[in-house]
Formats: sequence, C-alpha cells, structure tokens
Amino acid sequence: MVNTRTALIAGNWKMNLDHLQAIAFVQKLAWALDDAKHDYAAVEVAVFPPFTDLRSVQTLISADKLKVAFGAQDVSAQESGAYTGEISAAFLAKLDAQYVIIGHSERRTLHNETDEVVAAKTAAALKHKLVPVICVGETAEDLEKHGPSAVPVAQLEVALGQVSADSEIVVAYEPVWAIGSGQAATPEQAEQVCAALRSTLREKLGDAIADRTRILYGGSVKSSNIAGFMREPNVDGALVGGASLDVNEFAGIARFPQHVGL
Ligand code: 13P
Repeated sequence: MVNTRTALIAGNWKMNLDHLQAIAFVQKLAWALDDAKHDYAAVEVAVFPPFTDLRSVQTLISADKLKVAFGAQDVSAQESGAYTGEISAAFLAKLDAQYVIIGHSERRTLHNETDEVVAAKTAAALKHKLVPVICVGETAEDLEKHGPSAVPVAQLEVALGQVSADSEIVVAYEPVWAIGSGQAATPEQAEQVCAALRSTLREKLGDAIADRTRILYGGSVKSSNIAGFMREPNVDGALVGGASLDVNEFAGIARFPQHVGL
C-alpha cells in the first residue's frame, strides 16, 4: 500500500520559552518557512509550548493565519473539578489546540505516570477531539534486558485501551537513552521499532488506522540527521526537543524533503 501519510515535524519545547518568547519564535518560524516556500500539505509543522504560552500562540496563529499547528505537552485525565494545577482537555480544545503530547518519558519518570494514566489521558484527549501524541520508548536497561521493541509495544498496547478504530492518534517512539543525549537511534533502529508499533496498531485496531496513523521518531533529532529517519517507510516524522528551540534548525528539520531527495 502506498504511504499517503502527511509527515509531521513536531517541536516539544518542554519547559522553555515564556509567552513573549513564544510569540517571537512562532513568528520567526513562519517567516523562515514561508521564505523557503514550505509545503505544509507535504510536511505539517507543529509546536508544543508550555501551557502559559498557548493562548498567545493561538492568538498569533489565528490573527496572522499561520499554517503552523500547535498542541500542549500534557493534559489531565479528569474532566473538571478539584484537581489543583491540572489542565483539562476541554480547556485545550477551547483554545483550538489540535494536539496534546501524552506519556512523554519525562512525565513517566519524573511524575510517575503509568501506562494506565497514559491510557486515561489519551481517552480524555480523544473525547474532546484533540489528537493525542502518545509517547512510548525504552530505557537503555530495557533495551539490554528485553530487546528493542518489547517495552514500547507493551506501552502502546495499554495506551490503546480506549482508542477506537476511527480515532485519530499520533504515536511517537522516543527511546529514553536517545533523548537529550546527542546519541540518536540509527534510522534502522527507529524503523524496526516504528514497524513493530504499526503492527501493534494493525493487530489491535485494524488496517485502516495502522495505515493512516503517523508514527514519529524522537531523540536527538537535528537537521543533519532527519533525512536518514525520513527515508524509512514506517517513520512519518519527528518529535524534536532541543533542536526545536532554534528557529533555523527547526525550520531546517521541517524542510527535510529538500535535503532528502524525496
Ligand atoms: P531531544 O530532541 O532534545 O533529544 O528531545 C526529544 C524529546 O524528548 C522530544 O519530546
């Protein structure tokens, strides 16, 4: 089957850039992409700023009709109520956020998010028509003990608990050992796990969702290594951390078709 999936280059800012810096950044990003005649229909570009930036980013994108998409870095599994500090999917939907990152390894390790929490957050996002970017990935220790795809596949199986065959989701494979280490996986390693994740989608939810769901690779992606990943048949984009904080570098990643020869 021919791959008709639109590539997605997503920038996870983590806890960087305040709302004023966010406005300047998104403006510059849009200019850089426009200057390069970026084809957004071929490569979608999305940013994931901190919660406090989202309203500013939304206002800018809507006023200037920018084609950059945006999402949040986390969401509550709860609908509303006495959950101090939490942000509901309804609030994010009201801000026109299209996406939300769920189960990033930093939330799994630093905030003890289990696979069950990830599944509940995924369901909350889908209920409000947000596209969950479900993150999975193994530690170096997992890799040694269980091989390359066992842990990410097991994480995805639980996360899909309340996902149905007609849901729109994105899956991001982010090996923990590659995040922020400068030591990216090889394109072959990424392809092997992304292919296994696609098979999991196929087995659990059918061909249509497996064929249309974008599976991203994340972990030390830069403009100089994106081409190798994007040549792989089961890698449909990247979730970028550090390199998404530099406008020209991030725009360079989004412009991968120009240096990949695709
Ligand atoms: P780096 O690109 O900084 O390795 O981070 C990856 C990541 O965690 C994106 O969510």
